[in-house]
Amino acid sequence: MKGKKILLGVTGGIAAYKAAELVRLLVKADLRVEVAMTESATWFVGPLTFETLSGNKVITRTFGRAETPRDHIRCGQDSDLIIIAPATANIIGKIAHGIGDDFLSTCLLAATAKILLCPAMNDRMFLNPAVQDNLDLLKKRGVLVMAPDSGDLACGSDGPGRLPDPADILERALILLSEPDLAGLKVMVTAGPTTEHMDPVRFITNRSSGKMGYALARAAVQRGAEVVLISGPTTLKPPTGITFCPINTAQEMKAAVLDHRSGCHIIIKAAAVSDYRPKETFDQKLKKGAATLSLEMVRNPDILALLGETKKDHPSILVGFAAETENLLQNAQKKINAKHLDMIVANDVSRKDAGFQTDTNAVKIIYGDGRVEDLPLMAKIDVAHLILDRAKALKDNIS
Ligand code: PMT
Repeated sequence: MKGKKILLGVTGGIAAYKAAELVRLLVKADLRVEVAMTESATWFVGPLTFETLSGNKVITRTFGRAETPRDHIRCGQDSDLIIIAPATANIIGKIAHGIGDDFLSTCLLAATAKILLCPAMNDRMFLNPAVQDNLDLLKKRGVLVMAPDSGDLACGSDGPGRLPDPADILERALILLSEPDLAGLKVMVTAGPTTEHMDPVRFITNRSSGKMGYALARAAVQRGAEVVLISGPTTLKPPTGITFCPINTAQEMKAAVLDHRSGCHIIIKAAAVSDYRPKETFDQKLKKGAATLSLEMVRNPDILALLGETKKDHPSILVGFAAETENLLQNAQKKINAKHLDMIVANDVSRKDAGFQTDTNAVKIIYGDGRVEDLPLMAKIDVAHLILDRAKALKDNIS
C-alpha cells in the first residue's frame, strides 16, 4: 500500500478547497499524490496549495508544458487509483460521453487505473436526471461513485451534494488500494473503555481512547473482512462499512459480544473493560453528606475469559490485549493461559508513547506456544495490520 500512486483530479466547485485536506491525508497515509486541476478549479484554489501539500507539480493544461508532452496518457496509466474530488456535473458528463477537451478529461479517456468519483454540487443539479443518468452509465462501466453527503450547501440550499468528509474519501481509497486478503473472514473487535455508573451523572471509567481498537477495525475492513466493532464511549468516528455496536458498561459489552460471536473467525479484545462496577446504581444523583463515602464494587464478567472457556463450541482465533504497568511479560503470559487465548498483545502502558491515547504503540506479541515477538514503536494502524497478519497466519495454520 505504501508508495502507491494516486492521481487526484480537482474540478471547479467550491468543495475544491476540501480537496487540499484530502491531499494532506493521502500524503500522511504514505501515498504518492499527483494533482491535475481543471481551469475552473484553479479559480477556487491555487495550484500552489496542492503543489505544496503533494510535493509534486500540479498539471493544469495539456499544451505549453514542454517537459511533459505525454502526461495526458501517462498520468491515468501509472496511477494505482484516480480520485476525482470534487467531481462537477460537467466532468461527470464529459467522462460519461467520452469528451476530452482539457487535460483531466483527456487523461481519463486513456486511463487504465480504477476511478473513484466524488460528486459535489448544488442538490438540484445533482438530482437532475441528466446527471443521474450519467452517473448510472458510469457505474455500469465500473467507475466507482461515492454518494455525496446531504446537508446545507455552499449555495444556500439543503440536500444531497456535499463532498464527503476527506477522511471518508481516504478510507474508501485505502480499501480500493488494499489486497483483500481477509475477504470471507468475520472479525470482531472490541475497543474503548467501559463506563460503570454510580448514579445518573457519575461513572467509573479508564483512559482508553479507542484508537487501538478502531485502528484494528479500520485495517480489517480495508483488507476485505466483515467487521463488527463493539465500542465503549469514545470521540472517534467509526470506520465506514462495518457493523458498529456502541455500548457503555461491561455487561452491555458482554451481551453485544455474545450476540455477534457466531461465525467470527478472529476476535480481538482491545477494549479496556472495567473489572469492577458499583454494587448499586442510584436512580437519583447522590447528595453530598458525610466527610467520606465508601463505594462497594462487584466483579464484572470477564468477557474474554468466557470466550476462551467456550471456544470449543465457537472456534475462532482469540486475541487479547494486556495493559500492564509492571512485569509486562509475566502478567501477559498469565492472561494468555488463564483465558485460553491464541495470542496476547502486551502493552506497557507506563510508556508515554504507547498504550492509552497515543497514536503510536510499542507492543510484544505473545503466542500460545510461548513465542514472544517484540515490535518496535509504530503507528497504531501499522500495529493493527501486523496483529491481523499474525492472527490470519494462526487461522490459516489451523484450517
Ligand atoms: O484505546 P487506546 O487509548 O488506543 O489504548 C489502547 C489500550 C491500552 C486500551 C489497549 O491497547 C489495551 O491494552 N487494551 C486492554 C486493556 C485491558 O483492559 O487490559 P487487561 O489486562 O485488564 O485485560 C486483559 C484482556 O481481557 C483484554 O483483552 C480485555 O479486553 C479483556 N477483559 C478484561 C476484563 C474484563 N472484565 N473482560 C475482558 O474481556
